[in-house]
Amino acid sequence: MSEPSSSPRISFYKGREIPLELHKVRIVQKLHLRPVERRLEAIGEAGFNTFLLTTRDIFLDMLTDSGTNAMSDQQLGSMMVADDAYAGSASFTRMQQAIADVFGMQHVLPVHQGRAAENIISQTFVEEGDVVPMNYHFTTTKAHIDVNGGKILEIFTDEALKIKSDCPFKGNLDLDKLHATIAEYGVDRIPYVRMEASTNLIGGQPFSMENMREVRRITAEHGIMLVLDVSLVGENAWFVKQREPGYADIPIREILRELASLCDVMYFSSRKVSSTRGGAIATNRIDLFNKMKDLVPLYEGFLTYGGMSVREIEAMAVGLYETTDETVISQSPSFIRHLVEELDGAGVPVITPPGGLGCHVDAKGFLPHVPQSEYPAGALAAAFFIASGVRGMERGTISSVRDENGDDILADMELLRLAMPRRVFTLSQVSYVSDRLQWLYDNRSLIGGLRFVDEPKVLRFFLGRLEPIGDWPKRLAEKFRKDFGESL
Ligand code: F0G
Repeated sequence: MSEPSSSPRISFYKGREIPLELHKVRIVQKLHLRPVERRLEAIGEAGFNTFLLTTRDIFLDMLTDSGTNAMSDQQLGSMMVADDAYAGSASFTRMQQAIADVFGMQHVLPVHQGRAAENIISQTFVEEGDVVPMNYHFTTTKAHIDVNGGKILEIFTDEALKIKSDCPFKGNLDLDKLHATIAEYGVDRIPYVRMEASTNLIGGQPFSMENMREVRRITAEHGIMLVLDVSLVGENAWFVKQREPGYADIPIREILRELASLCDVMYFSSRKVSSTRGGAIATNRIDLFNKMKDLVPLYEGFLTYGGMSVREIEAMAVGLYETTDETVISQSPSFIRHLVEELDGAGVPVITPPGGLGCHVDAKGFLPHVPQSEYPAGALAAAFFIASGVRGMERGTISSVRDENGDDILADMELLRLAMPRRVFTLSQVSYVSDRLQWLYDNRSLIGGLRFVDEPKVLRFFLGRLEPIGDWPKRLAEKFRKDFGESL
C-alpha cells in the first residue's frame, strides 16, 4: 500500500519519504535520560506498572496521546480570551459552534472527559441484560456498560486481530455478525450499536466509510441507535482519505462531516484533541439529548461547562477546527508509519498496517517464551523502560479482567503500545525508540514474566502492582550496561 506520509503534496527526490513536520517548535521542555541503574530501580518502585512511574524518571513518555499532545499557538492564544461564567459562557457557545461546524451536530453536552460521556450514555440507555454490539471495546467503555448491567459484544472481522495484515480497515464491524446478533438478541435488548473510530485496542485501526454506511443502514432498518466514539476520528478520516477508493481528493472536513452524519449520537474525549481535560456528547436528535441532559449537572457541572474550565473549552474548540487541517492530522500517523516500517523491516513484530495513536508491538511474537498468564505485554513494557527510559503502555491481559472463577480472561492481543502524541516528538527521538527496541528484540530471551502482588478489582491496569518472576530485570540491565557502557 502506498500512502504519502506527511502532506499529500510533498514528494521527495531520493529514497524513502520523510514524515516532514509542517510546524516549528517554539516552546520546549527539558528531558532527562536516567542511567539504566535508576531505570531499573524506578520500574521496581512502580510495581512493574508503567502507569506508576513518575515523569522525572521518564525520557520519552509514550504512555498515551491523551492530554499529552502539543498545543498550537492558536490554542494557547484562545485560552487567554476565555469567558469565565458558571452559566451561559461565550466559551461554551464557541465550542458548540465548533462541533456544529466540524461535525454538523447541533445539540452538545459538555463532559470532563471521554469516560464521563460513556457514563452518561450507558446510564441513560443500557439496562440489565442488554447487549451492546461494537467493532471493539475500549477499557472504560466496557466498564461503564458492565456497571449498568449490560454486556459488550465485539463483532469485528477476521482481519482485526491479525498482527500482520494488508487490510486497510481492520476496525470494520462484521456486517454478517451484526445481522446474526440482531436476530439472536432482538432489537429490545440492543440499546445501541457502538462504532469506535481508529479502534484503540486493536492498534489504532480505522473503519471504512463504506462499512460505517452499511452499519448505519442496518441499524436504521431495525430502529437501533448508532453511537460513534469520535475520540480518534481525525486519524480515521485521514485513513479514509488515504486508503478508501474515491476519497483521495475529498477534504478531511467533508469526510468528518460524512462520518458524523451517519450516527445518532457521537461522543469524544477531547484529551486527544487538545492537551487538557474535556469531552462532549453531541447529537442532532433532541429526544436523545433530552434523555441524557439531566445527568450532566448531576455528575459533571452546569450544562455550559460540564466539569471543564473555560480555558479548556476554548482550547478544545480550536483543537476541533485543527483536526480538519491535513497537515495537523497527518503528523502523528506519518511518524507512526515511519516507526512501524522501520521496526517491521528489522524483523521486530509490530501491528501492520500502521494505524493511528501509536506503534503497537506484538508481545506474543516478541516473547513467545512468556505465557499469557505471565503477562507478556506488561513484561515487555517494563523491559523496554529499562532498556530505553521510554514509557509505553501494556494493552493485553493486565488490561483485561478475571472471570467469575477468578481466572484471567486472556486478552485477544498482547500489545506494548507506544503512543505518538501529536507534534511532541522529533524524528531523532523516534529513531532512538527504534534503535532501543531493536536491541531489546535481539536480547528478548532475557525477558521473563510478571505476577500481581496487589490487584485492584476494577480497571486493575491503572493501579495494580506486579513483581518479576525471577531476576530477569536485573540481568537485562546488566546486559544493557555491558553492551552500551554507562548511559548518561
Ligand atoms: N474512547 C476512546 C476510543 C479512548 O481512546 C479513550 C481514552 C476514551 C474513550 C476515554 O476517554 O480518557 O478522556 O476518559 N483513551 C486514553 C488512551 C486513555 O490512553 O488510549 P478519557
